[in-house]
Amino acid sequence: MTLSASEVNELRSEEVAKGLHPIFRRRWSPRSFLEQEVSPADLKHVFEAARWAASSGNGQPWRFIVGVRNSATHKRIVSTLAGFNKEWAPNAPVLILGTANTLNARGALNAYALYDLGAASAYLTLEATALGLAAHQMGGFDHAAIRKALDIPDSYVLGSVIALGYQGEPGTLANEPLIARETSPRERKPLSEMVFVAWGEPANLG
Ligand SMILES: Cc1cc2nc3c(=O)[nH]c(=O)nc-3n(C[C@H](O)[C@H](O)[C@H](O)COP(=O)(O)O)c2cc1C
Repeated sequence: MTLSASEVNELRSEEVAKGLHPIFRRRWSPRSFLEQEVSPADLKHVFEAARWAASSGNGQPWRFIVGVRNSATHKRIVSTLAGFNKEWAPNAPVLILGTANTLNARGALNAYALYDLGAASAYLTLEATALGLAAHQMGGFDHAAIRKALDIPDSYVLGSVIALGYQGEPGTLANEPLIARETSPRERKPLSEMVFVAWGEPANLG
């Protein structure tokens, strides 16, 4: 007997530090999606969230290519998925490719392009969570193939493909390994491994 979506969601938010804003406790990256489509209003909303992310020099270098189910763009993105992403991500009603312009307005290198895209993508996933949607970012796709399939200029760096939709039941995933991943505990490094007062020396955060 596998866990239901609501049981997994409860376990997953329990794992996140108490006291954090509920949106951080609720967000995780499911792989099971319902057929249910995302409304145009909700889709606009998640991109509005991305739009209001901070960026270096307010350059807003991010560009998103969005494909809704049955569109040529959705099919093109699906055709580039790699490995086990092929087993679940095609079911997401929306697939989004995040890219960012590595050249600033003066034509000089913007070293923060990918950083800014990451911030905008994080905003997008949090707004999706607030709307009751699920978002799952993926790096597992053929970068050369997606660039070709979607005509992405060479000066744009690729970020992730984001699967967006309503979370489905873990038991509807295609196979046991996927179900096991969907229901297994989450893992995070302790703060002592990531916050230092000097290199390698953990900050005392109590
Ligand atoms: C840049 C990036 C690439 C990722 N690539 C994949 C991927 O190819 N396939 C996949 O199933 N999950 C992928 N993930 C999801 C991560 O595995 C997931 O975010 C991580 O395990 C933490 O889990 P959580 O998002 O549920 O907290 C990716 C996430 C990010 C941010």
